[in-house]
Amino acid sequence: MERTFLAIKPDGVQRGLVGNIISRLEAKGFQLVGLKMLQVSRELAEQHYAEHKEKPFFGGLVDFITSSPVVAMVWEGKEVISTARKMIGSTNPLSADNGTIRGDFGIEIGRNIIHGSDAPDTATREIALWFSDAELASWKSTT
Ligand code: CMP
Repeated sequence: MERTFLAIKPDGVQRGLVGNIISRLEAKGFQLVGLKMLQVSRELAEQHYAEHKEKPFFGGLVDFITSSPVVAMVWEGKEVISTARKMIGSTNPLSADNGTIRGDFGIEIGRNIIHGSDAPDTATREIALWFSDAELASWKSTT
C-alpha cells in the first residue's frame, strides 16, 4: 500500500492545527502508520530540503523548520501521495483553494503549515530520512 511523508511545520504546531490536520486525513480514510514530534536538527533540515539548496529562501527555510518542534507523520492508503497533496493545497497559501489545509489556514509561503511528499520517489526518500523501520507500524482495523 502506498505511503507518504507529511510534516506539520512549527507554525502549524504553534497555531494548534495538529488535531485538525490529523482529523482531516483520518476522516478521508487514510491510516496513520508513523507519528512523532521532534526538534529538527540543521543536518536533517538540510538533507530534507536538499533540492532547494541553491534557492534564495533556503537559509530562512532551514532556520524556520529548526526553530521549534515539528510533527512528522507517515500516512498509508490508496493514492495517498497525490491525494494528501490535494488536501494540503498549493505551496503558496494565498493561491491554495478553500477547503485545503493551506487555503483554510495560511497566507504566507514561508509559513505554509505542512509539508507533503510530492511523488513516490520523494516519499520513499523522506520516509527513510525521518523514520526508522521500527518507528513505523502496519495495522488493519478489526472493529
Ligand atoms: P514545502 O512544501 O515544505 O517545500 C519547500 C518549502 O519552501 C515550501 O513548502 C515553502 O515553505 C518554502 N518556500 C517555497 N518557496 C518559497 C519562497 N519563495 N519563499 C519562502 N519560502 C518558500
